[in-house]
Amino acid sequence: MPKKHRLAPSILAGNHADLDSALSYAESAGASWVHIDIMDGHFVPNLTFGPQTVEDLRPRSKLHFDTHLMLANPYDYVEAFAQAGSDLISIHVEPDYPIAETLQHIRNLGCQCGLVVNPPTELEVMLPFLDQIDLALVMTVNPGFGGQSFMTDQLLKVQRLAEERASQGLNYLIEVDGGVGEDNWEACRDAGADIFVAGTSFYKSDNPASFLALVES
Ligand code: DX5
Ligand code: ZN
Repeated sequence: MPKKHRLAPSILAGNHADLDSALSYAESAGASWVHIDIMDGHFVPNLTFGPQTVEDLRPRSKLHFDTHLMLANPYDYVEAFAQAGSDLISIHVEPDYPIAETLQHIRNLGCQCGLVVNPPTELEVMLPFLDQIDLALVMTVNPGFGGQSFMTDQLLKVQRLAEERASQGLNYLIEVDGGVGEDNWEACRDAGADIFVAGTSFYKSDNPASFLALVES
């Protein structure tokens, strides 16, 4: 059965002094997911939100909280984000920490788990974990900031992940994140992506509801 395509607005591009409104804006446009970027100033050169932010947003919204941890030591924080109300927690393959254990830990905490690969990282690093994940996230910019240009060459990773999913009979979703917008989401979909993170392109769109409807129709 074909998977449903979904747009996941990234509140990184919303007003950080009024995240409540950023969530409502996504919800009223018809979104069912929201992407929450957690940055630590070490793994990426920027800082954003912590578990308290997620916990305070949780009662305000029924959106699927897609939490993208850009942390040097993700294992130490997954419990806090699970308890705060994340539905899905994604961790990167690049830092030096026990990936399989952390994925299992996320599962044991009752959340879905995702694994993320940065543009300079070979996809091969991710392959041993495919049977343990609910979502494979391909970064289409170097993480840290919104509003960067989409890196088309990363779609090769999306294609390979879609091939592996089919040949291994697996069921993970494939998500793309960074520079995704109305001009390129179809190329991502055609490569095999299911979930499209959209920060700038969603929050600055003249008609975010029509963008969302187009993706999810
Ligand atoms: C980048 C973040 C993205 C960011 C995307 O480090 O992981 O989720 O919000 O923003 P746009 O869509 O503006 O590239
Ligand atoms: Zn992200």
